[in-house]
Amino acid sequence: MSKPKRYLITSALPYANGPIHIGHLAGVYVPADIYVRYLRSKGEDVIFIGGSDEHGVPITIKARKEGVKPQDIVDKYHAIIKKSFEDFGISFDIYSRTTSAIHHKTASDFFRKLYDNNRFIEKTSEQYYDEEAHQFLADRYITGICPHCGNENAYGDQCEKCGSTLSPMELKNPRSAISGNTPALRETSHWYLPLNEYEDFFKEWILQNHKEWKHNVYGQCKSWIDLGLQPRAVSRDLGWGVPVPVEGAQGKVLYVWFDAPIGYISNTIELLPDRWEKYWKDEETKLVHFIGKDNIVFHCIVFPAMLKAHGEYILPDNVPANEFLNLEGDKLSTSRNWAVWLHEYIEEFEDKQDVLRYVLCANAPETKDNDFTWKDFQTRNNSELVAVLGNFVNRALVLTAKYFDNKVPPINKTTDCDNEIIGQISEIKYNIEESIETYRFREALKETMNLARLGNKYLADTEPWKLAKTDMERVSTILAVSLQICANLTIAIEPFMPFTAQKLLKMLNASQYKWSSFGKIDLLKTGNNLGKAELLFDKIEDDVITRQIQKLEATKKSNAVDNCKPNVLKPNITFDDFAKTDIRTGTVTDCRKVPKSDKLLQFTINDGTGQRTILSGIAQYYPSPETLIGTQVCFVANFEPRKILGIMSEGMILSAEDTDGKLVLIQPSRKVQNGTAIG
Ligand code: 2FM
Ligand code: ZN
Repeated sequence: MSKPKRYLITSALPYANGPIHIGHLAGVYVPADIYVRYLRSKGEDVIFIGGSDEHGVPITIKARKEGVKPQDIVDKYHAIIKKSFEDFGISFDIYSRTTSAIHHKTASDFFRKLYDNNRFIEKTSEQYYDEEAHQFLADRYITGICPHCGNENAYGDQCEKCGSTLSPMELKNPRSAISGNTPALRETSHWYLPLNEYEDFFKEWILQNHKEWKHNVYGQCKSWIDLGLQPRAVSRDLGWGVPVPVEGAQGKVLYVWFDAPIGYISNTIELLPDRWEKYWKDEETKLVHFIGKDNIVFHCIVFPAMLKAHGEYILPDNVPANEFLNLEGDKLSTSRNWAVWLHEYIEEFEDKQDVLRYVLCANAPETKDNDFTWKDFQTRNNSELVAVLGNFVNRALVLTAKYFDNKVPPINKTTDCDNEIIGQISEIKYNIEESIETYRFREALKETMNLARLGNKYLADTEPWKLAKTDMERVSTILAVSLQICANLTIAIEPFMPFTAQKLLKMLNASQYKWSSFGKIDLLKTGNNLGKAELLFDKIEDDVITRQIQKLEATKKSNAVDNCKPNVLKPNITFDDFAKTDIRTGTVTDCRKVPKSDKLLQFTINDGTGQRTILSGIAQYYPSPETLIGTQVCFVANFEPRKILGIMSEGMILSAEDTDGKLVLIQPSRKVQNGTAIG
């Protein structure tokens, strides 16, 4: 497109069902933030839109598991995620959420417009229904035997053992994850976006007109289009989400992948209630979506089809999706806790946000999956940030303090060598621009570091410390040029390492420069006082890295133990041994936290004969214990009573550990009489 008038930059809305880790940062948010900071520095009109994706089945499953409401889950993680973005300097103009009223209205109106314009087809199909829970079952709520590998606990959308993608109908012996019952098939109707009708459009728009998109993105789009596009359901039978705004659609919500990208629009409306349309509806806006590779089809096919069907919106100019980041050779995994969590990193590496931003960009999975290792993190910090960037800045500042009383000296005796250096600054500037504008952020960062390398080489070649005895005019010029390189560095590094840029500006006693000043060598005024020289980066010692590696090894070990658990059987017992244990059912009549304890819940149980008190160490997994009142639990009735924190506990409540290491209560799948013996 010709030079855009304004930029609208979005980054994928992360699901608010867990904290975020380095994979999120490397794949989406660091590149998006670099791009936006660069545009702002150039003085462009740009807005950067972020937010949490707070609908969808996984959130309802997590809430059910933890005995809380979906809103509690998203409130908790939205706050954690938002804080991590702030901590790492991801400079959103707005970070909102899809449970906001404005989003519900925007998504609802968007659907309604497509509905009114007959852009959907309505289809009826048979889907699994839980007759006890009175609800249709989302694919994730159905488990059964995988037809490919025999795994007994495959999900209705995927078998996690063999990795096959499944549909619920393929599962043998399907069961509802809510009641444990065999679900029935019932007819239900949904609205579908007929993507097949847009095939010719996509062939032209992407395959013909966007050949410049990254290979991974273009390739995925091409294979989707070549396979033939199918109508996609945009509604679901679920109680959590944006209700379908059509009469008679009770119990139906918009599919999360229909409402989430509309979140980009609602968040823009929230940010600029009076001006948002300029950004979304004017052809002179350049819209760019930053996402991970698992989101490509939704941003390149589904959302553009929605926008096109609506008719008033512009389409993305580019979707520079990244591949995935691995950790120490293994896929990042939330459930296996195989991750470097941002909220943990910031506690352990206070003030080292830029080191992580640097490493994640230098090693970004731009064209293929890449690996993060703690050793590489250490090497890049020590041999690049400390030895190249930090060292150059420090030498320039310390020498100026030594020879010129910490004041910017004049440039008064230039040689070819200086002129060559000055010319190279502009060349580097040009290379950085070219790389950022084509979404090659690794390359751009390399060029940025070349500016510091250039400075180091200049000092090494000219050796001002030797000239100090004979030619102070040359020393003055060399240090002045070096300081001007430092000032240029503040511009170059700002998009990548904003905290370090500020630190360096403070040391130079200067305020932020615009991109247009990049290449000039009169940024610092002769005679100006400099600030106090400090180290920009500290060396990271081996023991710090060893601790991180040990932490991951412990995770690996505990995952291995967990995997083995079902196989490690205890020695056989006789029926008489078993019969000694009196396990029964009972109804929870009261449940509350034990004061002064983080772990304990105090249950009052109707055991069929009366009420008994049992303490159980599951408080952290059931933050709203009152929601358990009225449900049934299983407990060991003849467990020796014992006093804990002054309360007599008369039994033991049964629970099991899930794959996240969280305790889940064992509850009868159907109501039975209180006091019924289990055996
Ligand atoms: O993959 C994800 O984390 C999704 N929540 C991304 C949504 S992006 C956009 F469409 F909102
Ligand atoms: Zn399988």
